[in-house]
Amino acid sequence: MAYSLQDFCRDTREILKSGSSREQVEKIKLRMERLLLDQQFVGDYFNDQQPQGLKRIYIDPQLGFEVMTYRYDQARKSQPHDHGDSWAIYGQVREYTEMAVWDRTDDGSDPDRATLKEKTRYRLNPGQAGVYYGRELHSAATPVNTRYLRVTGTDLENIERLRIDAATGKIERIRARQTGAARVSA
Ligand SMILES: [Fe+2]
Repeated sequence: MAYSLQDFCRDTREILKSGSSREQVEKIKLRMERLLLDQQFVGDYFNDQQPQGLKRIYIDPQLGFEVMTYRYDQARKSQPHDHGDSWAIYGQVREYTEMAVWDRTDDGSDPDRATLKEKTRYRLNPGQAGVYYGRELHSAATPVNTRYLRVTGTDLENIERLRIDAATGKIERIRARQTGAARVSA
């Protein structure tokens, strides 16, 4: 049965009305995987006219969650980062995302420096979505021509998030709106 962006946003609204625990966000993930399978949706938003980079296709006026499409013709690799007090779900449409999840092994006392250990690594293939909740550190690598859908609990550009250099441990606090749209994290 068809499942449209409007259906997805309606279901997400219903789920989030009672809160945004991990359990609830996992429920949204299942709806998102249903949306990723809808050929009409994929054809409408992930066609040849899809713009490069990110495009916001829905923002909820009441609850603030938002839906974005991503298209990258070049391979990309992000540093470990979190989503502050919010959450994100990434849903693969074309190619794949190699996702790594990281643990901090320091005690958090140094505001500028962290030590990290890779906890797990897996691939999101088309039709699969992954939840990245709050302060969970993750990094993504994508090959050429990758496309995916991202849903976040709020506009991440407005909240403080951490990005940590995996090699040096240097902590960067990001609040992208201050420095321009190029700093949207993936
Ligand atoms: Fe992320």
